[in-house]
Amino acid sequence: MGKKALKQFNEAVKFLKKQYKETPSVGIVLGSGLGNFIEEIEVEKEVAYEDIPNFPVSTVEGHKSYLVFGKLSGKTVVAMAGRFHYYEGYEAQDVIFPIRVMKLLGVQTLLLSNAAGTVNPSHKVGDIMIINDHISFFTPNPLIGKNIAELGTRFPDMSEPYKKHLIEKAKAIALTHNYDVKEGVYVAVTGPTFETRAEYHFIKVIGADVVGMSTVQECIAANHMGMDVFAMSVVTDIGIIEHDHAITHEEVLEAAKNAEPKLATIFRELVAAI
Ligand code: HPA
Repeated sequence: MGKKALKQFNEAVKFLKKQYKETPSVGIVLGSGLGNFIEEIEVEKEVAYEDIPNFPVSTVEGHKSYLVFGKLSGKTVVAMAGRFHYYEGYEAQDVIFPIRVMKLLGVQTLLLSNAAGTVNPSHKVGDIMIINDHISFFTPNPLIGKNIAELGTRFPDMSEPYKKHLIEKAKAIALTHNYDVKEGVYVAVTGPTFETRAEYHFIKVIGADVVGMSTVQECIAANHMGMDVFAMSVVTDIGIIEHDHAITHEEVLEAAKNAEPKLATIFRELVAAI
């Protein structure tokens, strides 16, 4: 694991091209509690991570860990059933390995989702927030190390990490369904601890709306390669809260599950509109 050269990506891509002949144009990565979206896909091929050369392998027992190829809204897509988190002990370069492979397979648009805690007082549990920007200073930048020039430039621009045209389309879709969708800034932290009260306060002060343990490294890798990224958070807990309240993983999963149908509708219709 760890440092990867172009050759290792190409080996994975060559293997996957043999498994599935069509070229996916959209890649999908699903957040905690949001994995059922996979069922929206007309599955044509599933490939276990452990069979793909150089792919990181999930260490968590019972975790889904395969790529799904198939059709969604008439488009050819590839989705990750099971994503890699930095807090699990993967290096940042392993977390983004699948994203790079997706691009080399032909994926141009990347859709990401996650569960997140909010520090914005106008948010409530179960809200969906379209991410329009992020702060990545608290997790290692996955591009640290020798640049792979074939994938992208040494110093990538990050002025539009989440594409405005995709955000506008998603907002229009939300409007037609009367979904009250929020928009804002995601800050990534390593986890696996949830934040202390002081940390939630700090997150609010620095200009973020929600906080989570994923997405940003994947978004950076995708931008490096010139992919169009769209991402949504489901607000699963209120970070800044005055009375005593302990956040649990169970409540995060429950809130995510409840919001999932809305998120699924937005993803489905967005893919149709791409
Ligand atoms: N903090 C960090 N990650 C999270 C949270 C949170 O409050 N909720 C869900 N993922």
